[in-house]
Amino acid sequence: MFGDSKHIDTDFLVLGSGVAGLSFALKASRLGKVVVATKGGISEGATSLAQGGVAAVQSPEDSIDAHIEDTLRAGRDLVHVDVVRRVVEFGAQAASELIELGVPLDRRGETLELGLEGGHSHKRILHVADATGKAIEEAFIEAAKNRNITFITNHCAIDLLTQHHLPASHPMQNQPTQCWGAYILDENLGIVRTVRAKATLLATGGGGRLYQHTTNPPVSTADGVAMAFRAGATVANLEFFQFHPTMFYNPGGDSFLISEAVRGEGGMLRNRNGERFMEGVDERMELAPRDVVARAIDTHLKRTGDVCVFLDLTHKDGNFIEERFPNIFRHCLENGIDIRKEWIPVVPGAHYMCGGVKVDSSARTGIVNLLAAGEVAFSGMHGANRLASNSLLESLAYAHFASETARESIRLEQNIPELPDWDDSGVFDRHEWVIIRHLREEITRLMWDYVGIVRSDDRLEAARRLLHYFMREVDLFYRANPVRRDLVELRNLALTATLVVKSALMRKESRGLHFNIDHPDSEAKFLLDTELRNEEVETDTHLLGSQ
Ligand code: FAD
Ligand code: SIN
Repeated sequence: MFGDSKHIDTDFLVLGSGVAGLSFALKASRLGKVVVATKGGISEGATSLAQGGVAAVQSPEDSIDAHIEDTLRAGRDLVHVDVVRRVVEFGAQAASELIELGVPLDRRGETLELGLEGGHSHKRILHVADATGKAIEEAFIEAAKNRNITFITNHCAIDLLTQHHLPASHPMQNQPTQCWGAYILDENLGIVRTVRAKATLLATGGGGRLYQHTTNPPVSTADGVAMAFRAGATVANLEFFQFHPTMFYNPGGDSFLISEAVRGEGGMLRNRNGERFMEGVDERMELAPRDVVARAIDTHLKRTGDVCVFLDLTHKDGNFIEERFPNIFRHCLENGIDIRKEWIPVVPGAHYMCGGVKVDSSARTGIVNLLAAGEVAFSGMHGANRLASNSLLESLAYAHFASETARESIRLEQNIPELPDWDDSGVFDRHEWVIIRHLREEITRLMWDYVGIVRSDDRLEAARRLLHYFMREVDLFYRANPVRRDLVELRNLALTATLVVKSALMRKESRGLHFNIDHPDSEAKFLLDTELRNEEVETDTHLLGSQ
């Protein structure tokens, strides 16, 4: 479509093609031209992997207040109540939109079938068997055909276009920071395009790939957080990284999630002796919120030296298991476990980034014409721990709010300046890319060992020192070599890891997903979001802070 042109102009630039990016694109395409740039193929994000479903109040026994109450309880007093109310109230609209777009939600007769997950007091999870995200992604991609939307795949955004890219003497330097699009690496052609837009939506998803063990796909490298931070946006609550309790234990193999819905249907956690170790931990047992269950498993593994625990579904009817969890059943069978007769070996894995780029109720970041939605955004919805299946709902809600904001921004007369082409003069491929692989392995291992489910001051301090050193190495490499996707990702991982550690060091308490053995209690003085901005952070983060 754009050939080898280095310049693309559009009304809306969407970075990312998961549920947030696609949902926004469908709505914004009624207002103007949309370009969706995505790092890999269209469906390579976390959305396609979502299993459990979308939390939305549907049954007469349930209520908006109960859903709000459950979200607040999981989020340990850090949830923004007004945000939760707005998102939970959006549930009914989200459900109708999904149905309208042809998502084949499971039904029992005429009524939608609802699942149960940890922390929910009622059945309220809309699902399509155990592959809800794939069904949503496919329906949205189908709906995007014949709309005013152009997809550019294998396009990796490097940095947002702002005043940083204008000469110091440019008159727009006196204005508040604005976003005019992004520099995007076209991996097919090996060129960097300057994509200019009246409004840009960051929908780049999460950052599970910060950690050695994760449920997240390869694209989840926190690029959006790092790009927005470098551009001057506020990022918040990055210390709250959610670990899913039950990832299929498959050392050396691909990661695969065993949905919380399995526990919702009666799956029991056992140690290798068959004991239900959640007894005595929480009266809700396997259906306690994720932080509680993941920590209990982590503690058990550390104490016993075992490599995994087990999820037991063998008491359920075999036909029911095959029908309700066809993908989980198939995956386990392919890996030698018949879950109708055998326990599933599981371990926790990094799963969801509760913090992100701070947005207001209209999905605006602090940067003019830069919006954010989905996992990359921090809205205040999840507080210190996200309630299961609230993410797809929040993504749909904030994509909608962003589309309303986009309607306003398209009406305004805008003066987008000429921006310089990507400058790679002076770089030279030294053919030393092993450094990139090595640094990435170091960082993800460090995050797992030092900044994982259970933390301590000493480990966090060690992580800070080591990351400072790694950031210098990455910066040296970045300045000297041509840009490549793995280098862009490493640069973003190093910066975001540093921000996670910095946030974790600021929170000298334990709350929800952030558990520090040196500060085991929650304290009222920490009932605040942890906010970071480029110019307010010490020198080490500045290293990769320049665009
Ligand atoms: P994603 O779907 O991850 O999409 C991000 C997009 O951004 C991708 O297209 C990616 O290629 C692109 N991208 C990233 N960086 C760049 C870049 N630099 N340049 C260009 N493009 C870029 N939540 C629920 O509510 N219910 C569930 O049942 C559920 N199950 C889950 C199961 C798994 C295994 C996982 C990993 C998550 C699950 N979640 C679930 C969480 C939920 O799926 C995600 O939070 C949600 O899908 C995020 O959507 P998104 O659009 O923000 O990001
Ligand atoms: C799951 O199916 O367990 C994932 C649900 C979620 O992350 O919200």
